[in-house]
Amino acid sequence: MTPYSLARPLLFRLDPEKAHELALRALDLAGATGSARLLAGCPVEDPVDVMGLRFRNRVGLAAGLDKNAAHVDGLAGLGFGFLEVGTVTPRPQAGNPRPRLFRLPAREALINRMGFNNDGLDVFLANVARMRYRGVLGINLGKNADTPLERAADDYLTGMERVYAHAAYITINISSPNTARLRELQTHDALDELLAALAAQRARLAREQGRTVPLALKIAPDLDGAQVQAITALLLRHGIDAVIATNTTLARDGVAGLPDADQAGGLSGAPLRATALQRLRELRALLPPEYPIIGVGGILTADDARARIEAGATLLQLYTGLIYRGPSLIGQCARAARDAARRAPAHEPAGSRANGKRSPGA
Ligand SMILES: Cc1cc2nc3c(=O)[nH]c(=O)nc-3n(C[C@H](O)[C@H](O)[C@H](O)COP(=O)(O)O)c2cc1C
Repeated sequence: MTPYSLARPLLFRLDPEKAHELALRALDLAGATGSARLLAGCPVEDPVDVMGLRFRNRVGLAAGLDKNAAHVDGLAGLGFGFLEVGTVTPRPQAGNPRPRLFRLPAREALINRMGFNNDGLDVFLANVARMRYRGVLGINLGKNADTPLERAADDYLTGMERVYAHAAYITINISSPNTARLRELQTHDALDELLAALAAQRARLAREQGRTVPLALKIAPDLDGAQVQAITALLLRHGIDAVIATNTTLARDGVAGLPDADQAGGLSGAPLRATALQRLRELRALLPPEYPIIGVGGILTADDARARIEAGATLLQLYTGLIYRGPSLIGQCARAARDAARRAPAHEPAGSRANGKRSPGA
């Protein structure tokens, strides 16, 4: 019996988005009073060097739970190895009308069509300036809904310019299903152009600021083999440092007939597990053994974490599992990932650099 198993039935009686806001506020309080460890247990210390950064352990928070970087210190108390905040867009936007988040408890799944609701870069950066957290902070960037697709690169470039000095790594999110046409940026020519622009700006910022911030690309699970192959070639061509696989799925495998299964949006949690694992396997087969892959999607148990590391993930992220299993999942997954990585050293990043600094363009 964990504190979360007591709180969950109460939270699940509330509207999902309200429950989410309440839980984050409770977490802020727990962070302020130093009681977060009561929820999550002792953090797992398993330092690992990836992308030139030192991670406390292999299990991070996936993007979307803290879109405005408003709860970083509370979340940090739960023992994550790293935190990814955002998606942040240049200008504030309301996202889709509520309700836009649905629980499918029979399958430990969520469907969301939040639509990048966030307070924009000004508020985001003010929040980052206030946080006390000193661990690895990934910042996930998106485009505003009303920015035409042809101008999408401008939004990512603006985001990169503004967050560069504050991010341990930056994620380019082109895989949310809830911003019209966003996923078209995953097609070969659009992605080639976008990554070229981002890599050029990163090289300039690295020269100006004396620090190369790693870039990660977050992809959808709904890609065929040819698309995955095209994406891996572009990651390598443009010197992108990592890939995050995967975002939510448009498929409804395993949930058909359940209440709310037909809601528009992206499905996450247990029904995404097999597809996310499959995309990870394809990526690992196509990318060099030391290339960092962050595995996310349907990790709800220590066994899931172990399977993802064995399939070649370097790091992991959690979202829906936290809602269904609570914060104790973080430590369980971090321990399982540590043990699996020790058994399968082939996936250890060979070129790992612990000092966090790389020469521009390296
Ligand atoms: C309510 C909700 C909001 C999300 N928002 C974002 C987001 O803003 N940016 C992003 O890159 N991913 C977002 N995601 C996707 C998650 O980061 C993750 O990739 C996905 O949910 C699969 O992992 P999971 O099965 O552990 O939840 C969101 C997911 C959920 C459930």
